[in-house]
Amino acid sequence: MDLKEKAFKLIEQYVQNQNLKKHLLAVENLMRHLAKRFKEDEEIWALSGLLHDLDWDITKETPQKHPLVAVEILEKEGFPEEVISAIKKHNHLQGLIPETTLEKALYTCEEMTGFVVAVALVMPNKKLSEVTVERILNKFKEPSFAKGVNREIILKAEEMLGLKLEELAEITLKSMQEISDELGL
Ligand SMILES: [Fe+2]
Repeated sequence: MDLKEKAFKLIEQYVQNQNLKKHLLAVENLMRHLAKRFKEDEEIWALSGLLHDLDWDITKETPQKHPLVAVEILEKEGFPEEVISAIKKHNHLQGLIPETTLEKALYTCEEMTGFVVAVALVMPNKKLSEVTVERILNKFKEPSFAKGVNREIILKAEEMLGLKLEELAEITLKSMQEISDELGL
């Protein structure tokens, strides 16, 4: 079994919430696009995105355990060290410092997918095809919109990766529109 098959099997086993599953698919494809942007390993980056919240159904009541439960599972299953390390550091509540480009990208960018979902949901037909980069940037400036999304972390993409908010919005939107059927948006 290759790693991607193994990843989907684990998701089947540990992820019941359909919105969480969609979030994992969104971050998988975003990370694939970001790997292209930074000329890094697409499969490794995609795998990190796909598995980053594997334990969220289990840990949402005890966020300090997120993603340590996932890390334990992935270590046991023999996933690459760089994938596990990026997943381990992505929860900023753990206070770990992202060091590699992969770690920095997962840490700063994954929440942008949730923000784009929120923007799609206020469009007339609730479709990703109606969303524009401009609309994302305008909504980003409204503090009361999608309050749960940590804008401070997303904005760190510029200092950590040299990735401006506008480019991140563009890449995120494109990567999500590509799989809009799977995301149901
Ligand atoms: Fe996430």
